[in-house]
Amino acid sequence: MTPAPNAADPNQMRARRFAAGGPLRGRIRVPGDKSISHRSLMLSALAVGESRVTGLLEGEDVLATAAAMRAMGADIERIAPAGDGEAEWRIHGVGVGALLQPTQALDMGNSGTSTRLLMGLVAAHPITACFVGDASLSKRPMGRVIDPLSLMGAEFTASPGGRLPLMMRGAAPAVPITYRLPVASAQVKSAVLLAGLNTPGTTTVIEPIPTRDHSERMLRGFGADLSVEVEPDGTRIITLRGEAQFRPQTIAVPGDPSSAAFFVTAALLVPGSDLVVENVGLNPTRAGLFDVLRQMGGSIEEVNPREVGGEPVADLRVRHSTLTGIEVDPAIAPSMIDEFPILFVAAALAQGRTVTSGLDELRVKESDRLAVMAAALTAAGARVEERADGLVIDGTGGDPLRGGNNQRIATHLDHRIAMSMAVAGLASRDGVDVDDTRPIATSFPQFEALLDGLSQ
Ligand code: S3P
Repeated sequence: MTPAPNAADPNQMRARRFAAGGPLRGRIRVPGDKSISHRSLMLSALAVGESRVTGLLEGEDVLATAAAMRAMGADIERIAPAGDGEAEWRIHGVGVGALLQPTQALDMGNSGTSTRLLMGLVAAHPITACFVGDASLSKRPMGRVIDPLSLMGAEFTASPGGRLPLMMRGAAPAVPITYRLPVASAQVKSAVLLAGLNTPGTTTVIEPIPTRDHSERMLRGFGADLSVEVEPDGTRIITLRGEAQFRPQTIAVPGDPSSAAFFVTAALLVPGSDLVVENVGLNPTRAGLFDVLRQMGGSIEEVNPREVGGEPVADLRVRHSTLTGIEVDPAIAPSMIDEFPILFVAAALAQGRTVTSGLDELRVKESDRLAVMAAALTAAGARVEERADGLVIDGTGGDPLRGGNNQRIATHLDHRIAMSMAVAGLASRDGVDVDDTRPIATSFPQFEALLDGLSQ
């Protein structure tokens, strides 16, 4: 694994200009879903016997999870295909409750998902582990998982503010809890459920606002006794019986809608585009952006809908469209929580005003995505007002952004800011200079090559 990029070392940054090219036409495939890839490795590592995973995202975040699972006893191998096909990952797990004491700190790089989910796993094992990460991850709040996992009996010594680096000691046996999520977070939900796997009795998570449900789907697939009850007001009550026994699985990971989002938006914005993005995961807890872009007038057609790895999937045909600003319903936010940076780019090119609200969570992602996108788009010539919980953007009505201005866009070790501003560059007059493209490799190592191949 390449070492995690560190903002403290500006000499290592890889700046690049993204400028207007031709229309985006043809067919592309984006890499596997990041959330599902993390979970495939973690759960396979808990099954006795061999699980096989295809379509795994081979980005730095997922490789950090693989390295951590190896450090705790799993045998994980990548089998390269003979020809052009995709690699297969083979995982021999240790069994639920049998993770081993790691002998070194677990380096989580830039990955909040690896950190929070693995803290859940460690919480119910007699393991002491040290979690470290890059400059971005070390600023992110871990109190949201420390709180419930402490109730289950785990002990923590965190850096000030409940941040990394942190040491934790798991509990054996852990105590089952009923936990009502105070923030809409699939990572917190998953951390508690993963801890519940090796906990006697029943662990319950109450989720007032539904978030991505990949953990629930996959836990069931591996054989966990998990049930979900939905109350009339939409609250989900997830119950998991502990001390599970896992059966190894064969998993095909669908394409990541969060990665597809950049190409879908680029095709909507660049005149003359007609692009098919194949094999995109369309789990309703993830696909909010495509609904919002359609509400704005975007032509996004679902072709050949099917199921891959227990998840709904389709090919998306996207044609250049005139977009109109809208007021985005905050209730849709959890189903597109990672897609706001690219939605803001679409809004900056739309006709009229787009208003977003209820987005406080964006301030604690890989960067403060409200502040960073407001600054980035303003530098590229867009009209943006930053509010406490959202952005208000007055679009150009389809005209290119000015771009340029000899200003390097600060991406703050945030892959989604870098990719969003790359797309803004395609829709600009003078191009957009991004200060650092390295973080793109955390989630979408092929992004630049795919973009360069399409937009010439
Ligand atoms: C993720 C959950 C989301 C999302 C992240 C991946 C997951 O985080 O932003 O990129 O795989 O569970 P939160 O749970 O903090 O919203």
